[in-house]
Amino acid sequence: MAHTDAAPRTPDQEWWRSSVIYQIYPRSFADSDGSGVGDLRGITARLDALADLGVDAIWLSPFYTSPQRDAGYDVSDFRDVDPLFGTLADFDAMVSRAHGLGLRVIADIVPNHSSDQHPWFQAALAAAPGSPERARYIFRDGKGETGELPPNNWESVFGGPMWTRVTEADGTPGQWYLHIFDTSQPDFNWELEEVRAEFDDTLRFWLDRGVDGFRVDVAHGLIKADGLPDFVQSDEEASMGGGAATKSPYWAQDGVHEVWRRWRSVVDEYEGDRILAAEAWVYPLEFMANWVRPDEMHQTFNFGYMETPWDAAALRKVIDDSIATFGAVGAPSTWVLSNHDMIRHATRLALGEDTPQGHGVGPDSPGLPDIDEGIRRARAASLLMLSLPGGAYLYQGEELGLPEAIDIPGDARQDPTWHRTEGERYGRDGCRVPLPWEAEAPAFGFSPAGETWLPQPEVYGVLARDRQLGAEGSTLEMYRAALRLRRELGLGVGAGAVTWDVTPEGVLAHRVGDVHVVANVSGAPVAVEGEVLVASHALEDGMLPADATVWVRVPE
Ligand code: BGC
Repeated sequence: MAHTDAAPRTPDQEWWRSSVIYQIYPRSFADSDGSGVGDLRGITARLDALADLGVDAIWLSPFYTSPQRDAGYDVSDFRDVDPLFGTLADFDAMVSRAHGLGLRVIADIVPNHSSDQHPWFQAALAAAPGSPERARYIFRDGKGETGELPPNNWESVFGGPMWTRVTEADGTPGQWYLHIFDTSQPDFNWELEEVRAEFDDTLRFWLDRGVDGFRVDVAHGLIKADGLPDFVQSDEEASMGGGAATKSPYWAQDGVHEVWRRWRSVVDEYEGDRILAAEAWVYPLEFMANWVRPDEMHQTFNFGYMETPWDAAALRKVIDDSIATFGAVGAPSTWVLSNHDMIRHATRLALGEDTPQGHGVGPDSPGLPDIDEGIRRARAASLLMLSLPGGAYLYQGEELGLPEAIDIPGDARQDPTWHRTEGERYGRDGCRVPLPWEAEAPAFGFSPAGETWLPQPEVYGVLARDRQLGAEGSTLEMYRAALRLRRELGLGVGAGAVTWDVTPEGVLAHRVGDVHVVANVSGAPVAVEGEVLVASHALEDGMLPADATVWVRVPE
């Protein structure tokens, strides 16, 4: 395993500073047993496709024991695999195959909350108010004469109150417990040393099994402000965000950094550049940079970049600001366009209407784009992203140009957001639909039984991997070429500012050595000179059309 050598690295050699990490959403990647839900054996069997794509690492969304009320982000045993996905032995086999192919493996860890089926929470329910069992979570007495009102006015990210009332052992209505997300996801009490120690052990459990790091779920959660004061967030902020400006009492509290410093010292006990990557939806970037100070995490998802519209000035600003701001604390910037919580960028970047994170789109949403136009813009955006210095994240299916699945019938939708808001928000199912591997196979090759836990749109057939592999001009071939060139030409390496060329309005152009990257975000074609290395859309008579990006070599 070339990548696990223990030789010390200089900071600019650390793999994660310029890595491309591919997010696998296990439910929807590949199903080996015909259950209609993807699994670890399915992943192992398809890993060569990712090595062929040219990524450095995979990050797997949760596969732990879970009642699956929030697609596995409701964990009832942090140290085992859910039978839906396989066994620990399947996990070990997957890691070993990945390492054999030169792919690192990042696990997803969910420290803010557990499932309500976790033995600790079950013990808390059975125990009395004020007991050590209840102290592991956030239980409070209700307000009102008989405690019939929630302890404060906080609203869950998924809609509805952030509190649920329990029935005490004697059958009487009792205390309330806090859950930032679904009722089935009670928040841990991170003030308690016992909770911290438990997670240290969980980190070591997976590190000992060979994982190369963790994506840390809700890394801006965990600690709540003293006294749990009332607070109302706007719709946009309530989805996931928090930050310096809003001072929400349940996001981004100072005390959380103590936890990350402790976690850093745990991963640093291990050889081989193991990493922590924060999912911290906080703004502005200066504030987000606190998560990647030298003794905290290695990377943080750049949601500022992800949420930037397809607009040249806005893109240039966020790129410059990200590199400068993360650079100021010695961290690389990261770049990401899609994940399992966002509308896929092949739809989002061409949407006529702003949609808050987590709300999703469905058949009745205004401003839905034409599929081909959306894919075209997504390809241009991806090619720009892969040229930038720092780490990049890909979400499964974007290498095929998959658009968001729009026409999912209400009774097939599974995201708790859809149910908790009674259909007012579509939620995140549209970006989580099982992948198409083979156009002619049942379930497009996702499952041998032809089953899928969410219905696949018809267009996924045309976009199936086997249709695109080796097909000139396909999105898959564009990603393969870009990832190969990125590695060969050293794009992505270094943390210095981007060198921008002077360009017409709406056009972004920067250079890395003799490679010029031109992204045409304007509405009109623009002249480009040089030898084309990879393009999101063919040049026509030396002109790069609108909504297209090209990498060209221009002799210096
Ligand atoms: C994950 C979501 C999940 C939530 C609760 C997020 O940030 O990415 O998919 O629903 O955390 O765990």
